[in-house]
Amino acid sequence: MAYPYQIQSLEEYKTAYQKSVEDPEGFWAGVASDFQWRKGWDKVLEWNFKEPKVEWFINGKLNITENCIDRHLQELGDKPAIIWEPNNPEDRVRVVTYNRLHKRVCQVAQMLRNNGVKKGDRVCIYMGMVPELVYAVLGCARIGAIHSVVFGGFSAQSIADRLEDAKAEFIITADGAFRGEKVIPLKNVIDDALIGNKTVKKVIVYTRTRIPVSMFKGRDIWWEDEMEYAETQVEKEGVVSFPAEEMDAEDPLFILYTSGSTGKPKGVVHTCGGYMVWTAYTFVNTFQYKRGEVFFCTADIGWITGHSYIVYGPLAAGATEVMFEGIPTWPDAGRFWDIVDKHKVNILYTAPTAIRSLMGFGLKPLEGKDLSSLKVLGTVGEPINEEAWNWYDEHIGKKKCPIVDTWWQTETGGILITNLAGVTPAKPSWATLPMPGVQPVLVDENGKEIEGSPASGNLCIKAPWPSILRTTYGDHERCRQTYFSAYENLYFTGDGALRDEEGNYRITGRVDDVLNVSGHRIGTAEVENAINMHSDVVESAVVGYPHDIKGQGIYAYVICSHIRGSEEETRKNILQTVSRIIGPIAKPDKIQFVPGLPKTRSGKIMRRILRKIAEGESNFGDTTTLLDPGVVEEIAKGKL
Ligand code: WT7
Repeated sequence: MAYPYQIQSLEEYKTAYQKSVEDPEGFWAGVASDFQWRKGWDKVLEWNFKEPKVEWFINGKLNITENCIDRHLQELGDKPAIIWEPNNPEDRVRVVTYNRLHKRVCQVAQMLRNNGVKKGDRVCIYMGMVPELVYAVLGCARIGAIHSVVFGGFSAQSIADRLEDAKAEFIITADGAFRGEKVIPLKNVIDDALIGNKTVKKVIVYTRTRIPVSMFKGRDIWWEDEMEYAETQVEKEGVVSFPAEEMDAEDPLFILYTSGSTGKPKGVVHTCGGYMVWTAYTFVNTFQYKRGEVFFCTADIGWITGHSYIVYGPLAAGATEVMFEGIPTWPDAGRFWDIVDKHKVNILYTAPTAIRSLMGFGLKPLEGKDLSSLKVLGTVGEPINEEAWNWYDEHIGKKKCPIVDTWWQTETGGILITNLAGVTPAKPSWATLPMPGVQPVLVDENGKEIEGSPASGNLCIKAPWPSILRTTYGDHERCRQTYFSAYENLYFTGDGALRDEEGNYRITGRVDDVLNVSGHRIGTAEVENAINMHSDVVESAVVGYPHDIKGQGIYAYVICSHIRGSEEETRKNILQTVSRIIGPIAKPDKIQFVPGLPKTRSGKIMRRILRKIAEGESNFGDTTTLLDPGVVEEIAKGKL
């Protein structure tokens, strides 16, 4: 079966794009009519970017899990939804058909209901990449609970902050998670995160690793026991059912925390209707997915890429996908290629940092791997440099697979700028053209739109697409301030971009104090706060610098009151502090001890100068406005 909204030629793209801009309501009503609604919408769109207030498919009623599962059962019931590849390649592959997915999601929904979870309640999910994670996410969606998945690499402190912000009452976790040679003790981390927590009532624990855990009576319960009982409730004489909650198109579907330039991570809120339409639409069009093909997105469900292109987009499109528990370099650097070979993957979606890291192992890990099933390659998360693009094209795609460079953000819910595989032209290291419905503009520092091309400026979007964030949880003003106040009536992305004469966009990177380390977003302020928790640290300043594999590395300038033991020891302790406060992903790559920081007379740290030093530049620009210009020389002398 073809997808009626699949664009199949450059001409069709142009027509679709034009229609989406001239008549957005008509255009999206057409796309949305291909989904299952309990009740149609009264109006397609209302919006203003002032408050901001954005509503799509107003008064439409649906449940996203009926669209991701139930409506496929007749045709695809016995077809695999998820092919799960375990961490250890010798362990058993699990194939989850749509029928099985339906049953498991019904069971989870029932289990949650049995434990008092209601529509609108926040459920925090902290698990490794096992099918049960998908069941948990969809189980929440089925009863209308708002899930908030936290990546398994975040620390107890990070989880505690998120639990508090979301006022979560329930947690779904596992005893542990396998990642390469490591076992991550998830339940222990949750126990720490819950010290002092006042809102969480129940913790459901799935058994994956069989490492010892402590269970608190009355609070902690086993997934296996609960699911077994739920099974007896949802399955009667071989028929499985759990009526899905009827949701408004604008009811929140999930919260996902992401870093900004200031303070603590914010909870980006996405809603049911628009998010569903956008993730399915962009999945089918970007990758040119055809029924029966095998899609493999290497992201973790703890990030937006996993939400949109492992859970919701592919399943809404009735796709078959590979879900991978492990890491690309274990047992060796050929793991991705083994998986492509073993499961005959047709579409591979990964990150530039993974490509660069695997490139570093040379061509040996590719020997004897049959990659001929591949048809389309994708990248996401950060700008892809030409060298990595060419390697991907030559050695993985064998020069016959279109590469889609997909630009988007946690806040955008799905892909906004990309070429469509084999349909619109690719241009190495350019994300190229906007999706239908997306109107990018470049603005200068004064907020004036830059017309004409070539051009370079700050990337904004002029009008809402169906899966734009609706708010930041519990703090709408923060949402307005962060995304809608820099430029009047525009959504500001935080990225800089170039535009060429053909209207292609190239994303050049963040223009705010947000770092992109291995495709993971980290705020400099967050890392500084963590470093400052170390008892010997007086003050710190964190900037990014170009890193061969990670894209950006974290460079920390640290003032200590005194150094106990050696500098090396203090460095190690600071790294451990950051690991404990945020998680290992936020550990600085370099720590330079400095006597002072370059500050303006009003006390603001001049990061511009620190960035230049970290990049190894010697021209620091104007330093005369500094309180103490001498400190710059001193820092530059000590550069690592
Ligand atoms: C930031 C968003 C979107 C899912 C993964 C990251 C950067 C993302 C690209 C790309 C250049 C990219 C941007 C963006 N980014 N994709 N194809 N080319 N830059 O989501 O954690 O919300 O980060 O990632 O800087 O603002 P995120």
